[in-house]
Amino acid sequence: MRIDILTVVPELLEGPFNHSIIKRAQEKGLAEIYIHNIRDYSTNKHKKVDDYQYGGGAGMVLSIQPIADCIDSLKAEREYDEIIYMTPDGELFEQKTANQLSQYKNLIILCGHYKGVDERVRKLYITKEISIGSYVLTGGELAAAVIADSVIRLLPGVLNDETSALSDSFQDNLLSPPIYTRPAEYKGLKVPDVLLSGDFGKIEEYREQEALKRTKERRPDLLN
Ligand code: 6GU
Repeated sequence: MRIDILTVVPELLEGPFNHSIIKRAQEKGLAEIYIHNIRDYSTNKHKKVDDYQYGGGAGMVLSIQPIADCIDSLKAEREYDEIIYMTPDGELFEQKTANQLSQYKNLIILCGHYKGVDERVRKLYITKEISIGSYVLTGGELAAAVIADSVIRLLPGVLNDETSALSDSFQDNLLSPPIYTRPAEYKGLKVPDVLLSGDFGKIEEYREQEALKRTKERRPDLLN
């Protein structure tokens, strides 16, 4: 899978993809991530990427020209399955969306910044608009990193244990059960006996019960 991310603050995206599992996914050739600085596509002599909004009002708006030229140059090279705009007024991102996106080959993710982008970018180019939650970020970059991370970890071969993405919280609308590692006792707190019993039938039953209990307590909405 290839993901092209368009931003006016590429520095914000340097960290998230260069470590751990997502870094390894790229090294293995399972994912390619390209960060594009929208400013590089500005035809303005000062490399301007934003302007005041028509009708007045506080805050700058990302202009259509550099974004359109960047997307056009990418589309000239390959077909994109979705061109996603990260925006607080998009559809709420859920595991279901991550699953769908992980089936695709080429994605563009456009990060909003300041007040957002000229509406005509959305009309002409964008095929999907995503928000990561009901709160406001300074820009779409951190949200784009969330999307890319959640999608790339689902690609076959990215996680060592192929079953571990399937047993994620949310894949079956259940939160994960509690987990433990050594030591078996820490400051008087013991790992539940069943997990040390070696009885895998009982262990599986325990995990299912605990997952259900945790979901009922914390996210009853998932059980509806
Ligand atoms: Cl995608 N962008 C911004 N700026 N804020 C957000 C968001 C996106 N999702 C939740 N809040």
